[in-house]
Amino acid sequence: MERKEFLSKISGGLAFTCVACMMAACSKDDNTGSGNNTGGGNNTGGGGTGSTLLTINLTTQLLAIDDFISDKGIIVVRKAAGNVVSSFVAFVNACPHQGIAVTFRKGSNDFHCSAHGSTFSITGAVTVSPATSGLSARTVEISGTTLTVK
Ligand code: FES
Repeated sequence: MERKEFLSKISGGLAFTCVACMMAACSKDDNTGSGNNTGGGNNTGGGGTGSTLLTINLTTQLLAIDDFISDKGIIVVRKAAGNVVSSFVAFVNACPHQGIAVTFRKGSNDFHCSAHGSTFSITGAVTVSPATSGLSARTVEISGTTLTVK
């Protein structure tokens, strides 16, 4: 009799404890979600101050409009004259569908993935599936005649 009473009290206490833990866990998850959003902001900041992914000498490379370079997992395209940031676009060279490298197509001014046919606009937005998201843009910085992708 005492044992039953004891077990009943303990199981009731455990149930209460578990419900309390679950509620605490849920509220932690909610807070983590907000933290992740803040983390997204940190990613943007990281792009500005992040490590260098690719360096290009603009006296010998990317001289003409529509010239592009694919190196070290990055693809960079010159879209206008002048050695200013707005003349270039840079993306991680991995199709969001399954990670295959894309190529820049001068004639259609877009990026193409030969694996399954996805295409992306010059802004990186997906224009033909099966990819469902765009290319991942990277930050371009220019100092003199040196272009740096971060
Ligand atoms: S990997 Fe690019 S479309 Fe499938």
